[in-house]
Amino acid sequence: MGEKSFQLFPEAASSIAGHVDALYAYMVLVSAFFSLLIAFLVVFFAIKYRRRNDQIPAPVDEHSIGGMVLEIVWSVIPLGLSLVMFAWGASIFFTESRPPADSLQIYVTGKQWMWKIQHNEGAREINELHVPVNRDIRLTMTSEDVIHDFYVPAFRTKADVLPGRYTTEWFRPTKVGAYHIFCAEYCGTKHSGMIGTVYVMNETDYDKWLGAGSGEGSMAEQGQALFNQLGCGTCHASAINKQNGRCPNLNGLFGTTVDLKDGSRVRADESYIRESVLYPQSKIVAGYDDIMPTFKGLITEDGLLKLVEYVKSLGPKNGSESSAPPAPTQTSGTPAPPAKPAAAGNR
Ligand code: CUA
Repeated sequence: MGEKSFQLFPEAASSIAGHVDALYAYMVLVSAFFSLLIAFLVVFFAIKYRRRNDQIPAPVDEHSIGGMVLEIVWSVIPLGLSLVMFAWGASIFFTESRPPADSLQIYVTGKQWMWKIQHNEGAREINELHVPVNRDIRLTMTSEDVIHDFYVPAFRTKADVLPGRYTTEWFRPTKVGAYHIFCAEYCGTKHSGMIGTVYVMNETDYDKWLGAGSGEGSMAEQGQALFNQLGCGTCHASAINKQNGRCPNLNGLFGTTVDLKDGSRVRADESYIRESVLYPQSKIVAGYDDIMPTFKGLITEDGLLKLVEYVKSLGPKNGSESSAPPAPTQTSGTPAPPAKPAAAGNR
């Protein structure tokens, strides 16, 4: 990170940062140009057309052709300039809102007033986020209490973190270093203290850091333990090898489209799994009855994320992008290992 020297802009340390800055510069230049032009003309015309005692100005002909041309020019040029802002901004917005399919998945839980981070491999951290450089990182985020907002100025990315649902944001860090995390949504007394640091590391350091781990096993393994502990297995596990269990089969569920009893369909993504644990009656799978009890109050947001990872690990897809090709892309030079077998089942 830059030293304490004066900086107008935060460091640009992600793949999107340059694009955001360029758009911002364009908007500042357009605004500055017209501000100066208008200020100049106000003064200039005030002097040029000031009232003189001996003169009464001639009436303006509203229908003169010169006036018409002028009207069109000063309407069309600003329209064009603002449409550029719109199209350019929309393009960046769409890029920022669609995580690439092979992003590294990391979970974030906001809480008054701290950031809790969970890595799939099991590592957990508070107010710190370690990520490898030059990898797409996808954050799936939720809150335990009120609305927060995960903001990393150096990456030019921020997104609200809401209680009761999952939001995502993604970035691709391009520079090794340490960068500020801010909470960008007022969330109570210590909102201003809800800060942290992203550490962008090279691949080797990151692997070493991950390896130091928590010793608690991967998120999916912890999720499986929770799954058994909460007794989900008594119904759902029994269905794994049976076609007509009382409970839907979770094997190969994630990322597929599920037919519901009311005839609608839903994609089995993170939010669907979360909802099904907390509000099982809200979406009943076709062919099953409303028999599952709610687990609301019995499980934390962190626990829910582990359950989500467990269900994900049962396959078939890694990301939640339904159209994504299943082939994993590795950034290292080694050939991609075969898809990890599901940590599933019988233990
Ligand atoms: Cu959390 Cu502001």
